[in-house]
Amino acid sequence: MITESDLDPALDWRAEIERLRLQKNAVILAHYYQDGPLQDLADFVGDSLDLSRRAAETKADVIVFCGVRFMGEVAKILSPDRLVLVPDLDAGCSLEEACRPEYFKKFRDKHPDHLAVTYINCSADVKALSDIIVTSSNAESIINQLPADQPILFAPDHHLGSFIKRRTGRDNMVLWPGACIIHEQFSEQALKTLKSLHPDAKVAAHPECPEGILLYADYVGSTRGILQYVTESPEQTFIIATEPHIIHQMEKRTPGKTFIPAPGADGSCTCAICPHMAKNTLAKLYLCLVNENPRIEIAEDVRTRAMIPLQRMLEMSTAIPKARHAAG
Ligand code: 13P
Repeated sequence: MITESDLDPALDWRAEIERLRLQKNAVILAHYYQDGPLQDLADFVGDSLDLSRRAAETKADVIVFCGVRFMGEVAKILSPDRLVLVPDLDAGCSLEEACRPEYFKKFRDKHPDHLAVTYINCSADVKALSDIIVTSSNAESIINQLPADQPILFAPDHHLGSFIKRRTGRDNMVLWPGACIIHEQFSEQALKTLKSLHPDAKVAAHPECPEGILLYADYVGSTRGILQYVTESPEQTFIIATEPHIIHQMEKRTPGKTFIPAPGADGSCTCAICPHMAKNTLAKLYLCLVNENPRIEIAEDVRTRAMIPLQRMLEMSTAIPKARHAAG
């Protein structure tokens, strides 16, 4: 196994990754929260729903997932015959950590009449205990497809759950008390100050943000939704309340517009960088292709149970158009 210390610092990463991608018939998928150079190398960059769709449909032998571990797991659940590689197996998610399967099972057992609608940011084990998986781009539409009197358990993000509750008017939703460390740290006071300095700026926010931040938003949506909003809007300046690496795609698609990361409590934006996504680097991407490791492996009984709510999600998302764009 080659390690980072064996690497020649003069290596042309882009050329080497390109060579290995062709040699192994690999597809590289990346989330918008990845570092710009990783996004630029990917065959497809997207939000959680589009990446799940790509992973389910790919003809490649190898899927390399530049994102966090649960995203790689989704690819393996939907495409079990593919080799699924991730640059760093330790790239986790605070929402996943906030929802351990043993506690989630107890939560379910306490509410036997409720349907478990679970956000995709969770482990394969939690998916295996769920009825339907949702992402931030299809949660509202999927919940609207359920009978109005159906009681629902929503886990693990209570900010997204509250947002969906407000949007759908469903009072019969019980929320798991989890939150994303990145979206929770945005400061309402600092955002107010920033807005007063940029009165023309529009605020685009991810629904994982607390309600106090969403109250200031001109647009609330998934990463893909936010990207589409700033691209299509005639406005020129935007405050972005989500992980700031998405600004890389915004600047590529709409050069000339201004994107300001929403501030944290100390008035800066560096605390909004996801420490898990940041674990992935070009060197680790290269090494995972060379070594065919780290691999995502899931026990078959967990995988088959987790596949059912994920497939239900894909079936219930047909009204949501697929992303038109690939990387670049
Ligand atoms: P989407 O890309 O589906 O909006 O989800 C991003 C995410 O995981 C936020 O933490």
